[in-house]
Amino acid sequence: MNKHLVAPSLLAADFSKLPEEISMINESEADWLHLDVMDGRFVPNITFGMFIIDAINSICTKPLDVHLMIEDPGRYVEDFRKAGADIITVHYEACPHLHRTLQQIKDTGAKAGVAINPHTSVQLLEDVLEDLDLVCLMSVNPGFGGQKFIYRTIPKVQQLKEMCAVRNLAPHIEIDGGVGLQNAEKLLQAGANVLVAGSSVFKAEEPPKAIRQLKDIGGEVMRFA
Ligand code: DX5
Ligand code: ZN
Repeated sequence: MNKHLVAPSLLAADFSKLPEEISMINESEADWLHLDVMDGRFVPNITFGMFIIDAINSICTKPLDVHLMIEDPGRYVEDFRKAGADIITVHYEACPHLHRTLQQIKDTGAKAGVAINPHTSVQLLEDVLEDLDLVCLMSVNPGFGGQKFIYRTIPKVQQLKEMCAVRNLAPHIEIDGGVGLQNAEKLLQAGANVLVAGSSVFKAEEPPKAIRQLKDIGGEVMRFA
């Protein structure tokens, strides 16, 4: 059974109530917790780093999916692993020596992911595809939560899925940005299997229900995908 995964993005949470937000995630049907690290250079915004992730790790029971939107991420992969990252995703656009950075991530024992911006073609991943546990397709320009979903991402999911099928590879295909009930089914049908959802979960009236609704989408379709 190929049930898809839901990874709420903490960026949209109420940080003045962080322990409560994490307990909600722990008790919900969320599969992973998505953590957005931003450095004010690769992206315009600044969020949090390894110290906060270490604290989150001490109270979160779900795997931590750490999305590094930072320059020169190789410098910090060991620190993020020590802080509790289970999956470490770096940006294609921030890594001139991507193959080496991926090996560094794997050497720490974490799963290795690559994220690509909306303007970056999936074809550029061809030569590292077999080294990847996860590909994150950005469906907004990274840096902020609550942005509008870029629909061009859907054919990119299909292209990536085909590239993987031809090579007999099955990395996670994660979509990040503007994901919610309005587009999740289309994304899953196109071949995505991890939905990152910030605003559509944490700004919902009942976040656990929003997570459950995302989990419940397209069950039967996915099982035969
Ligand atoms: C954007 C981040 C996303 C963001 C998604 O740069 O990588 O993970 O938190 O938030 P929503 O779901 O609100 O677009
Ligand atoms: Zn993210």
